[in-house]
Amino acid sequence: MRIFHTPAEMQQAALTLRRVGRRIGFVPTMGFLHEGHRSLIRLAHQHSNVVVVSLFVNPTQFGPTEDLDRYPRDLAHDEKLCRLEKTGILFCPKAEDIYQPRHSVYVTEESLSRGLCGASRPGHFRGVATVVAKLFNMVQPHVAVFGEKDAQQLRVIRRMVRDLNFPVEIVSGPTVREPDGLAMSSRNANLSPEERRQALCLRRALDRAETLAAGGERSTETLRNAMLEVIRHSPLARVDYVDLVDEETLEPVSRIEKPVLAALAVFVGPTRLIDNTVLKPAEPA
Ligand code: PAF
Repeated sequence: MRIFHTPAEMQQAALTLRRVGRRIGFVPTMGFLHEGHRSLIRLAHQHSNVVVVSLFVNPTQFGPTEDLDRYPRDLAHDEKLCRLEKTGILFCPKAEDIYQPRHSVYVTEESLSRGLCGASRPGHFRGVATVVAKLFNMVQPHVAVFGEKDAQQLRVIRRMVRDLNFPVEIVSGPTVREPDGLAMSSRNANLSPEERRQALCLRRALDRAETLAAGGERSTETLRNAMLEVIRHSPLARVDYVDLVDEETLEPVSRIEKPVLAALAVFVGPTRLIDNTVLKPAEPA
């Protein structure tokens, strides 16, 4: 595994790999890698013959009061895990190499990023789209892999690739869960044992919505209230949002006629967690 720290080294290596006909698979991450990331790296191997993983905690996607400083980091562990997953190149740049002084060009997605996390984290998707566009230029991937836990991010990236004509295929990987159902997230490391227990309310709320929808419930208001009711049983949980939106446009919907994304963000103690599921209209009995 080669390790690069500067964008210039990374881009040079990527251009050389392309010249000799290699197909580059890319997994962008913010590090503190877990089983979810490992599954994305494995997926990248299926679509390419050299995998690049980036580790970069991107400051522009964090708001001024958010957890940039608390974001967990463990470079030695990440390096070990990338070796185990046969990563070809590990790219770990410094913030000052990614953002030059007086950086003033950003990528803004203007529709899909308005609601859900975009509403509660102003500027977040501008930071994500900008860094992913920059990383695509550095890594020159043929294919890039993103997790479905970040459902809105995945859609914003697909839209950016479409609208700005990036020659990159986007592949998504399913959410990987702990045995009890909690979605894997680097932020889970910040939970106390009691918070970890109560964090299960996210998955339980989604389970409740899935059960009701499978039983024929189509009103998104009813489903949303049922999800909120589940979360109310966890005193350490504070809802940021619980929303049911069209799976493609991410616009709010009142009934499940087409696939609907049920997405939620919940603070458990100080840690903000997200999760989602897609609800389909129940087949008539
Ligand atoms: O999903 C993430 O970890 C980040 O948002 C990403 C895509 C690596 C951009 O910083």
